[in-house]
Amino acid sequence: MKTKKTITDNTVDPDVLRYTVGDDPVLDLALAKWDCIGTAAHVTMLSEMKLGRPIATRAEAARVRRELARIVKLSESGRFVIREDDQDVHMAVERILTERLGDLGKKIHTGRSRNDQVAVDVRLHMKDEILRTEAETVALAAELESFGLKAGAVPLVGRTHLQPAMPSSVEMWATGHAEMILDQLENLEAAYRLADLNPLGSAAGYGVPLPLDRRRTTELLGFSRTIHNCFGASMARGECEASLLSALAQLMAVLSRLAEDLILFSMPEFAYFRLPREYCTGSSIMPQKFNPDVLELVRSKAAQTLGLQTAAISLLHAMPGGYNRDLQDCKWLYMKGLDLTRTTLRILAKVVKGVKVDADRCRAAFAPGVFATDVALRKVAAGMPWRDAYHDVRDHLEQLDAEDPDAAVKAKRHEGTCGGIDHALYRRRMDAALRSVSRRMSAMESRCRALLK
Ligand code: ARG
Repeated sequence: MKTKKTITDNTVDPDVLRYTVGDDPVLDLALAKWDCIGTAAHVTMLSEMKLGRPIATRAEAARVRRELARIVKLSESGRFVIREDDQDVHMAVERILTERLGDLGKKIHTGRSRNDQVAVDVRLHMKDEILRTEAETVALAAELESFGLKAGAVPLVGRTHLQPAMPSSVEMWATGHAEMILDQLENLEAAYRLADLNPLGSAAGYGVPLPLDRRRTTELLGFSRTIHNCFGASMARGECEASLLSALAQLMAVLSRLAEDLILFSMPEFAYFRLPREYCTGSSIMPQKFNPDVLELVRSKAAQTLGLQTAAISLLHAMPGGYNRDLQDCKWLYMKGLDLTRTTLRILAKVVKGVKVDADRCRAAFAPGVFATDVALRKVAAGMPWRDAYHDVRDHLEQLDAEDPDAAVKAKRHEGTCGGIDHALYRRRMDAALRSVSRRMSAMESRCRALLK
């Protein structure tokens, strides 16, 4: 049976086609490898299905997998193209398979819809990207941790309401940010667990009259479990993208606060820190300017990521059950969110590495008021009840003498304060996170190798 027909119909008005296809031919390039992996698992499962006449024999499935391996290589070397008339990666792959394998290529879509196909591609892609994001999150935390270690006990005015509050240290500031960033791994892991569910075999959202073995593709693709309900599986498209965007938006908000502290502490009026010249950008009119544009753009990208999350939830919240084409637009949202977050993590790691501490400026900022609480606590040590000591100091604030910031930093020793920062604790957490990332990445690599053999 020879056919020159495009895979679906070609009666669509060209403007409508362009509008509906949107950016898929470009965005879907990121899904090419995962589309091939998903198809390899699907075709393997089809060949194992107990039917009077197999849809594809095991030998035929192996031929398809070899061809898919070739397409993955093409995409890795940037030579895989999605044509306008393909519409998306799914039809481009099917077209190539059909060109190369004839009727066998035309069988691979048996029992599958683009709806479960794209859902599986997105989840495989997301799992991979989340792990890479986690590794970059740890890398930034590690930079902050070693920045803190290097600065050691350099005193820093601790602030509340931005007003001078109590003695602190550069080490406590840096590792505090590191710890907040590391805690964000929990949200990324929650998004990973949601992405780690297999929708394949739900077809258009209602299953098919074929004895599909859905658990088999779950096992072949390394998902933690199958999404049991086919309609539920179709409803889950977009939801896991929105959860990922929520984790990314939250992480970006944390990064934005780090950027804000860096902007503040490196402005001339503070000058606790200095940003390397080559990380600052100038002005076309004011020759003296070295601006922290890079950090300002971190703030802006945090705002945009939150916007992407809002866009995803807005897109979903009033959509009726079952597949709707609105879902296609979730793809751009989560991909853009990942791009903004990952480039921000990488640039911040670089900036933090280059920041210089001006210890003299840090010490000079200790006005006597910063020691007020410490002085009151010394009165407590001499036997005065706390509230009396508090009032005694408050009533004579003008009598507070400048004390030694270094001594004040040394005097704080309990867990998590200036002298009690446990760097080994952070390193253990970071090592464990990186080990867990690389274990999962190499497990996925072996699965891909096995599927594309
Ligand atoms: N590009 C489409 C998407 O991302 C693929 C699924 C198309 N399905 C459909 N029923 N039109 O959603």
